[in-house]
Amino acid sequence: MPNQEKATGAVGVPTRRTDGREKVTGAARYAAEAPIPKAAFGYILPSTIAKGVIKSIDTSAAEKAIGVIAILTPVNMPKLHGGHSGDTRAPFSDMNILYAGQHVAVVVADTPERARHASSLIKVEYSELKPVVDVHDSAAALNESPTFFGSPLGFSKGDAKSALSAQGATVVKQTYTTPIETHNPMEMSATVALWEGDDKLVVWDSTQGVSNTHSSLAKAFGLKPENVRVYCPYTGGGFGCKGEEWPHKFLTVAAAKLAKRPVRLALTRAQMFTSSGHRPFCEQEISLSAGADGKITGLRHFVLTQVSPSSSFIETCASGTSRVLYSTASIEVVQHVKTMDLPPGTWMRAPGETPGMFALESAMDELAHELKMDPVALRLANHADVSPESNLPWSSKHLKECYARGAEKFGWSKRNPIPASTKTVDGKWVGYGMASATYPAMIFPGQARVRLYKEGNGVRAVSAAASQDLGTGTWTIGAQMTATLLDLPAGQVKFELGDSNLPTSGQSGGSATAGSLALALGDASESLKAELLKHADGTPLAGIDIKDVHFQEGYLASKSTPSAKVTLRDLVQKAGTEYVEGTTSDHHKYQPTGEDYMANDGKFAFQSFGAHFVEVQIDDLLPMVKVTRVVSVMDIGRVLNPRTARSQVQGGVVMGLGQALTEDTHYDLRTGRPINDNFADYLAPVNPDIHSLEVEFIDVPDLHFNPIGCRGVGEIGITGVAAAVANAVFNATGKRIRDLPITPDKLL
Ligand code: MOS
Repeated sequence: MPNQEKATGAVGVPTRRTDGREKVTGAARYAAEAPIPKAAFGYILPSTIAKGVIKSIDTSAAEKAIGVIAILTPVNMPKLHGGHSGDTRAPFSDMNILYAGQHVAVVVADTPERARHASSLIKVEYSELKPVVDVHDSAAALNESPTFFGSPLGFSKGDAKSALSAQGATVVKQTYTTPIETHNPMEMSATVALWEGDDKLVVWDSTQGVSNTHSSLAKAFGLKPENVRVYCPYTGGGFGCKGEEWPHKFLTVAAAKLAKRPVRLALTRAQMFTSSGHRPFCEQEISLSAGADGKITGLRHFVLTQVSPSSSFIETCASGTSRVLYSTASIEVVQHVKTMDLPPGTWMRAPGETPGMFALESAMDELAHELKMDPVALRLANHADVSPESNLPWSSKHLKECYARGAEKFGWSKRNPIPASTKTVDGKWVGYGMASATYPAMIFPGQARVRLYKEGNGVRAVSAAASQDLGTGTWTIGAQMTATLLDLPAGQVKFELGDSNLPTSGQSGGSATAGSLALALGDASESLKAELLKHADGTPLAGIDIKDVHFQEGYLASKSTPSAKVTLRDLVQKAGTEYVEGTTSDHHKYQPTGEDYMANDGKFAFQSFGAHFVEVQIDDLLPMVKVTRVVSVMDIGRVLNPRTARSQVQGGVVMGLGQALTEDTHYDLRTGRPINDNFADYLAPVNPDIHSLEVEFIDVPDLHFNPIGCRGVGEIGITGVAAAVANAVFNATGKRIRDLPITPDKLL
C-alpha cells in the first residue's frame, strides 16, 4: 500500500502539493495501477444499439479465444442488493437496452488485448427500436413538473408576470442553448477488484467518494462493511463523472468473483462518453424587466433539459443562479424535462450553474446594452444584500469587492461600450466582457480523527479522513488545516486519506470537501483537546474549563491565564498510550451542524461569489475567438492555499472556455451513439488556446460556515465564464451568440 502520510505548511501558505512529487515522477499509483498481483484484465462490450432488447448473447467463440478466463453477461450476473447509482437500473439486471454504449458483457482475459479481441467475438442479437435522440422529437416524453431529490424545481416569488409586462419597463427575453458536454478527466474511470475468500473484498477505484464506493459495494454484494476495503489515494480528475456508483464498478467486482482472479478494468476514452455521465442539453429562456435605473423588476427563467430512461439526474439551471444572484421583487422559475434514449447524464462541474449562468449572465449583458448601462453598474444596481431565495442574510459576501478589484486589474474602464468599434493594430476585433460567478457553499457530513504522538522533544500530529483528492489539493489542505487547528509547525503534521478504513467522509462533489473537512477536523481537534485535558491532573490546567483552553505553539494553554500551560508532549506522556486521539462527535454522522458554525441552521445563506473579466480578439476572415486575457476575482472565504486555490479557479476558467468555444458532444440521430467520442473530435481547450489567466481572492474568512472559514473552490471558477466570453464577443463584433459553443461559423 502507498505511503499515505504527507507533511505541509499551515493555512494560507502557498504550499506545494504534498503529492506533487509522486505525481510528476510517476510514483503515484492510480486505481488501474493498483499494486495487486496476478490481476487479469476486464474489457466491457458496449451495446451498439440505443434502444431495444437483447434477444441472445453467444459467447462460445469468445470463450475459446486465447487467454480468456471468464465472460460475465446479464445471464450469469449475480443479483445485486442495491448500492448502484448514476444508472438507476442495477447493472446486468435485465435484457433491455436503454442507451447506446450500455454494457452488455465483460470479458476477462490474461491481457487487455486478448480481452478486447475476445469481446469482438461475442455475438449479440438485438431486437431494435428507433431511439429518440433529438430533444425536439415529438416522441420525447415531456414532464412539466419534475422533482429532483424529492423537491419540485419550480420557484416563484412575487408577480414576475406583471412585472415583465409592465408599461415602460425595458424587457429582454431570449433563448439560450447549451449542448451535451462530456467529462474528460485525464484518468479514465477504473476499478480493480480482489476477493479474499467469498466474503472479503479489496477494491481500488477511481472515485470521488471513497466512503460512498465502500458502502455501495458492501450493500450491492451483501458484505459486512468491515469486510470491504476501498482504496483511492489519487483520482486523476473527476469533474462529477466519478461521483456516482456507475455499473463498471459492480461488473468488475462480479467478474473477479466469476474469474476467481483479481480483475483490473478501465473504461476506454470512448466508453467515458457513454458510461459515466455527461452534462445534459439545456434550452433556457430568460426574461428580465428593468426600470431606467437598471433595477430588475421581474425575472423569469424557463429551463428545458433532457433525462434518460435510467437516470434521475436533472440539470437544474435556475436553482443556483436566478434564485440567488440578483435582488428582484419577483422571480419565476419553471423547469421541464424530456426523456431521451441517451446514456444517463450526471453532475458536471457546477451542474446547473454552468449552463444557468451562461443564460442569466448573457441576458444581463443584453439588458445592460438595452439600458445603455455599464454591465458592472447594472450588477451593482441589483446586488442582493440578502438571499433573494430565502431572505436570509449571507454568512459572508464580498461580491462588490470582486467586481471592483477585477475591473481595476483588468482595465475595464477602457472598454468601449459600442460593439464592433475596437480593433488591434493588425486588424483583429477586440471585445471586453464580464460576468458574475456564483456557487453554493455546502457541507457533506463526515468524520475525521486527529492523533498526537510523542516525537523527539515534541509531538507529531497525524490527522485522517477517508476522503479523496481529485487533483484539487485535499492531501495538502488537510495537513494545512490540521497544522492551523493544532497550532503546530508544518513539519510536525501529516494527513492521510484515500482509504475506506479511515473515518467516513462525504464525497468530493459540490465543492464540499474543504468545508466539510474543516468542520470534521475542527470537531476532532476540539475532541482532542478534551482527551488531552483528561490527563491534566497535577498540571496548571487541572480542572480548567475546556472553553478557556486552546492549542498554542506546542502547548495546551489557558486563554485567560496565558501562563497556565502544559506542553502537548507532557500530556501525551502522561496519557501513557501510544497516542492521544480526537474524533468527530456523533452528530456529524448525520448533519453538518456545529455550535457556532451551523451550515444549515436556517440563520444564514451560504454562497460563494466572484467575477470574471474577459478580453477576446477575433479575426475578420476566419472568426475564431481567441481569449487573450481573463481576470477572475473570487470570494471563497478564507483561502486555505493560494497555490492550489488559484489552480482550481484557473482549471474552472479553462473548462469554461471549453464550454464557451468548443465542447459539444454530437450524437448520431439514427443510432444514438456519440460521434466525437475521442480527443481528436471532442475539442477541449489545450495549451495554445489558453493565454493570460489571472486569479485573485478576497480572502475574508467565513466563520459562520466552519471554524477555518473556508468555502470550497472546485466549481465556482467555471460559472459565468462562457457568458463573459459571449459578452466579449458581442462587444467585439456586435453579434450575440446564444447557442454554445461559439464556433467560427456562427460569427461569419
Ligand atoms: Mo462536482 S460536478 O459536484 O463533482
